[in-house]
Amino acid sequence: MAHIDLSRQVDAILVAPASADFIAKLVHGHADDLLSTLCLARDCPLYVAPAMNRQMWQQAATQRNIVQLQQDGVRLFGPESGAQACGETGMGRMLEAEALLAEILAASASASNPASARPSAANALLAGKRILITAGPTVEALDPVRALSNHSSGKMGYSVAQAAIELGATVTLVSGPVALQPPAAARTIKVTSALEMLDAVESQLPGQDIFIAVAAVADYRPQQSSQHKLKKSQQSLTITLEPNPDILATVAARPNPPFCVGFAAETENLLQYAEEKRRRKHIPLIAANIASEALGQDESSLVLIDDAGSHPLPHGPKIELAHGLLQHIATMFTHTDKQK
Ligand code: CTP
Repeated sequence: MAHIDLSRQVDAILVAPASADFIAKLVHGHADDLLSTLCLARDCPLYVAPAMNRQMWQQAATQRNIVQLQQDGVRLFGPESGAQACGETGMGRMLEAEALLAEILAASASASNPASARPSAANALLAGKRILITAGPTVEALDPVRALSNHSSGKMGYSVAQAAIELGATVTLVSGPVALQPPAAARTIKVTSALEMLDAVESQLPGQDIFIAVAAVADYRPQQSSQHKLKKSQQSLTITLEPNPDILATVAARPNPPFCVGFAAETENLLQYAEEKRRRKHIPLIAANIASEALGQDESSLVLIDDAGSHPLPHGPKIELAHGLLQHIATMFTHTDKQK
């Protein structure tokens, strides 16, 4: 049969552009035209590049379909934000052809390399779980144009969010300012300072099963943030800093907290300092890395530390590490859940 033969001749199917309507058809398994029939009959990976008006993209129905599609193991490429064919500007613009090609090459490289093969979403290790993740740096204002911050790129936190979605979780991402596109299926809340991050985390906390604090939260903020730009003088300048709340410790100290996971970036004594941090914050699991090897890099390594000891994850892309971390969390979470 032609439609079966056709789907057997290819290594992968990319639907680009994928309209809101076609995505809905995929989610429901329709097979009433050649393309939907090919997709349903396939035994190869399916990639989808959404393209639609920003309002259509934001609708709850589309967002539900996108989450379902990813839970069914379909990989999403984009969309991105920008000028749209209809004349409006916003999220829903299809990735450029070159970007789609790069995505396909990356996806097929990881599929053909068993060492980097990731469990498919069909495994749905975290299906039905709600995960709250913080990511990126916080920025603490000194005046309207100057701030204290750090070099966190957000790559690890965004990878954890992406991996959690691929494993079937419902993800809320609270992100400091970064230059990354958040995963389309995550509910993303953008914040600037540590106090804003704490507010957002507390407002999103009810109903969360797991809290993963990946953000590099500034430990201090200027005691006073000037309303007007500070003027220079020949005098030395002293800035008094006051401590920020510890978001992770605050969440972990709540009655019936979610399963809490921390990150520790250290420059020395990795295992000892990370374990001290884990105990101080009363959390079951911490992921430790060497700061200079992790900050801003696409690849890194992690050591997971829990009551049972330390479990190193090999050096690799952050998305692979995120999958390793989430698998460990899923095992621990199931165990603690059974004990309740
Ligand atoms: N964290 C947080 N709120 C803060 C500070 C840190 O939620 N105000 C979280 C981070 O997201 C991370 C972990 O706590 O999961 C890091 O612990 P922390 O002791 O704050 O690390 P550092 O800031 O590196 O501490 P230190 O400077 O003492 O090494």
